[in-house]
Order: sequence, then C-alpha cells, then structure tokens
Amino acid sequence: MDKKRELQKLSEEIASCRKCDLYQTRRKAVPGEGKEDAEIFFVGESPGEEEDRLGRPFVGRAGRFLDELLKASGLRREDVFITSVLKSHPSGNRPPKRSEVEACLPYLKRQLEIVNPKLVVLLGNVALRSLLGAEKVSQTHGFVEKNGRMFFATYHPSAGMRFPKIRRRMLEDFKKLKTFIRG
Ligand code: URA
Repeated sequence: MDKKRELQKLSEEIASCRKCDLYQTRRKAVPGEGKEDAEIFFVGESPGEEEDRLGRPFVGRAGRFLDELLKASGLRREDVFITSVLKSHPSGNRPPKRSEVEACLPYLKRQLEIVNPKLVVLLGNVALRSLLGAEKVSQTHGFVEKNGRMFFATYHPSAGMRFPKIRRRMLEDFKKLKTFIRG
C-alpha cells in the first residue's frame, strides 16, 4: 500500500476511535494532515475548538501563529505534516490526561513510521513528554536524537502568541528547521 493510502486508512481508524472517553464529546476527530513523505513533521498537544469543528489540525489562533512561523522560516504548510499527540479535543481546553495520551500515542507513532520524516518538531511540553520522556521545553530545547530519529524541541505556538520572548525564540528555532533539512 502506498503511504498516502496508509495515512488515509489510519485517519479513518482515528475518526471512529473509542479508546478513551473523548469520542463522546468530540465533534470531529483531528488525525492530522500534510505531505505523506514530508521531511518535517510537527507535533502539537491536542485539537482546540476550531480544529474540533473542522477536523483539521492547527486551524485556530495557534494555527495562524504556526502559519506565521512557517512562512517566516521559508517552509510551506503543504510540504510538511502537522498533527498533535491527542487526536480528539478535550472539551474546555484542559490539558490531556495521561490515560488519553497513552490511548492515542500509538496513532502518532504509526503516522511517524509511515511518513518517516527527517525531523520531528515537538511543539510544547506534552509532545516533548510523550515522545522523548523529557519534562520541559525550557530545559530540553533544540535538536535531540533518540532511537535513530531526529527531534527538535520548541515551545507550543500558544505560548509564543502570549509571550514576546518565547515568540522571538520560536522564530529563531523555526529558522533552524529549514537549514537542517537542506543539509
Ligand atoms: N493546538 C494543538 O496542539 N493542536 C492543534 O491542532 C491545535 C491547537
């Protein structure tokens, strides 16, 4: 099966997933989207309300800021893959529960296996904790290699939107991404 079809099948599986209680309150699951052979793969925390309504990742306020960061770094949204640790919106925008992350993480891992990107960009502490087991972006920051895969830990766009210092740091971080994939 080709990668595009594999991702599509996985998205269908996610759309009907009932492995945690979030299926009871979500409107649409948000599997993620992007190029099937993207070199850069972004991982956020969980879909917000706008994402829940549309079934697409990073299309709300944080998404607009992510678009700004991508543009500033010379990357095009259509060339990358974008998803989150959770594929369903936790209502009230509360942080994901450990049990929800555990239930959902296999989907992210399968997406990573299929796309097999050169670089996985972890946006915020939830993505960092889920994939690297590290606690804080303020401590584990930038390029990290684990099990033969390259990761880049940075802040979540919603933090960058709120704090000018983090925004500047994220702009610097995103510039390094393109340089990395160019080799
Ligand atoms: N924040 C995330 O972490 N993911 C989204 O899809 C939207 C906002």
